[in-house]
Amino acid sequence: MRRRDFLRAGALAGAAASVPTALPALDTLFAPRRGVGTAQDPLRLNANENPLGLGPAAREAAIEAFSIANRYTDNQAAAFRARLAQHLDISPDEVFLGNGSTEVLQMAVQALGGEGARFITADPTFEDVAGYRRPLGTELVAVPLDGRFSHDLERMRAEAGRAGGRAVVYLCNPNNPTGTITPSREIEAWIDDAGDDVFFLVDEAYFELVDDPAYRSCIGRAVARRNVLVVRTFSKVYGMAGLRLGYGVAHPDTVARMTAWISNNNTNQVAMAAAAASLDDTAYRARSLELNREAREFVIRTLDDLQLEHLPSHTNFVMHRIGGDVHSYIERFADRGIAVGRPFPPMSDYNRLSLGTLDDMQRWADVIRDFRRRGWV
Ligand SMILES: Cc1ncc(COP(=O)(O)O)c(C=O)c1O
Repeated sequence: MRRRDFLRAGALAGAAASVPTALPALDTLFAPRRGVGTAQDPLRLNANENPLGLGPAAREAAIEAFSIANRYTDNQAAAFRARLAQHLDISPDEVFLGNGSTEVLQMAVQALGGEGARFITADPTFEDVAGYRRPLGTELVAVPLDGRFSHDLERMRAEAGRAGGRAVVYLCNPNNPTGTITPSREIEAWIDDAGDDVFFLVDEAYFELVDDPAYRSCIGRAVARRNVLVVRTFSKVYGMAGLRLGYGVAHPDTVARMTAWISNNNTNQVAMAAAAASLDDTAYRARSLELNREAREFVIRTLDDLQLEHLPSHTNFVMHRIGGDVHSYIERFADRGIAVGRPFPPMSDYNRLSLGTLDDMQRWADVIRDFRRRGWV
């Protein structure tokens, strides 16, 4: 720090010490934002969360798990991995856990990035991989989605071929923010054909929500080969975004390569207990999927009515045209107490709408219909 900055920092610290700053009361600090739909606490149709909340079995298991909150997680983590492996029909050494699936992506980026590597993603897609590779300085090539709003595998393949060293291909399927899928047989054909210098990072965060019978997971290939990692999460269909639990599935050698970057005890007792209970709670899962389908159909009917084009969604969000600029659209919704999705350049005349309950979507529909009357959409 330069001397002048040092003096200024000292003066600021002194001022802070002499003026007692009122800390927010604990009850306000932890008062949950429930998304009631006011400007201060907007309805959350912006983060692809599950509006149902935890299922009853998961909630009960989570509360029970507080009795071991004083214990490190090693025993539970091993038991949970075994339970998850059974659910996925793989072996426990083929799965590892993350503090949300984003941490699994982070491990993968750290393990695979660096000198000589090149990341290849779609554009637009979920931004975390691009973000995590930034401090490594690893090259990134973002390939625009094709005319179907699927990954342009042909161009991505050409970019992989041009990589001097390892190519790390991030395939988000279904894709966030578009909700679209890239045909499984096209992905499988590339994986089967690729050499060891191409690594496939397949993000299946929305896997459970897909109804399309032609859609398949890449888990089979992930455990059979060393250059495929599948990433999944409990944040979406299981409604656990705030508890943080995700996982990666890969060949045991790849698991070892990824977990060289893991932070110890990265998951927690409460999340694992809730997740284990969720795996057994087929009724909650069915309800979660049903609610999502109903909300999506309602949104699509509304958009069709307003003649606003939308992309085919296989997820818990719908990307749709807004007939204007997304920044003012987001602000206008915020004024009405509703948070809608962030901008996803270059799709600046689209908005990503996350699905809530039918009541939530009715509120959204009332507002967008009012925008139409005002000529804003
Ligand atoms: C495609 C995709 N991958 C990963 C994540 C990260 O999810 P989490 O860290 O909550 O598991 C998200 C979150 O929205 C996502 O959309």
